[in-house]
Amino acid sequence: MATLIARNLKTLEKALSTKKIKKKDIGLVPTMGAIHEGHLALVDKCLKFSKISIVTIFVNPIQFTNKKDLKNYPSSIKKDINILKKRGVDIIFIPKKTDMYPAGFSTFIELKKFDNILCGKKRRGHFSGVATVVLKLFSLINPHFAFFGEKDYQQLFIIKKLVKDLNIKTNIKSVKTVRDGNGLALSSRNRLLTVDQKKIASKVNVILKEVSIKNLRSPKSLLNQIAKKIHSEGIKNIEYLEIRNEKTLESYKTKTESMKNNKSYRIFIAVKIGSIRLIDNIKLSK
Ligand code: PAJ
Repeated sequence: MATLIARNLKTLEKALSTKKIKKKDIGLVPTMGAIHEGHLALVDKCLKFSKISIVTIFVNPIQFTNKKDLKNYPSSIKKDINILKKRGVDIIFIPKKTDMYPAGFSTFIELKKFDNILCGKKRRGHFSGVATVVLKLFSLINPHFAFFGEKDYQQLFIIKKLVKDLNIKTNIKSVKTVRDGNGLALSSRNRLLTVDQKKIASKVNVILKEVSIKNLRSPKSLLNQIAKKIHSEGIKNIEYLEIRNEKTLESYKTKTESMKNNKSYRIFIAVKIGSIRLIDNIKLSK
């Protein structure tokens, strides 16, 4: 089917009501646009799993806790549409703010856990905004599958929890982090970096990998060494650097326990390069 661009709710709902499209067929990839290969890895998995693929592009204002960040968020709708068309996406949903949040909108998902750590600690309300928009998209589209990236691991974790807690039937599929040739996790925000800043940003993943391989027995020294190396690359602002259990998001606490044979831990990091906030995480293994 030729790609349909739905720029409002009516067009989307009309397309979804056609007899050809049944719930079991639909795969959904929610995005905020400025499409890159990371998004496309989700799209490719969606195309593989679903008869009807839907990509949404919506810079969700209620998940931004910083007005400047929202204002500066990169946008390239025309380019995005072309890329997604070429990929073979069936429906691209690009709602307006008033489609998603008409005047008087006042219902938000409240998270009682997991939203006040890592990316939620300094950005209170961020994950409530993410969960609310994702739930709205699930209600509108009723997808059988929805695809999320491990790059935003806490987000993926919270969406899995949302679906479980609220008995939503959508099947959440995760996709490994896509990186550039230097190891930098692809992100729409990378577009805001200068060439030099990008070089510095690439060091983060290299350091995480390099240091963690050698230091699995001592998490404290592992984190200290990572922080030291990252600072020495000129990144002064580390917002968080933590080891957490990937299945529970609980912090690594047991000083005596060796992580060597435990495959359930990840290092999570957020740094600021200039005014750009970047996140990454890697699994600790072997
Ligand atoms: P956005 O940052 O556009 O990301 C959309 C999806 O692409 C997310 O699931 C994210 O984890 C995934 N993604 C981004 N970069 C990736 C990479 N390098 N490798 C693999 N996957 C990657 O995340 C959001 O938008 C929003 O919070 C959203 C879920 C759309 C709700 O507004």
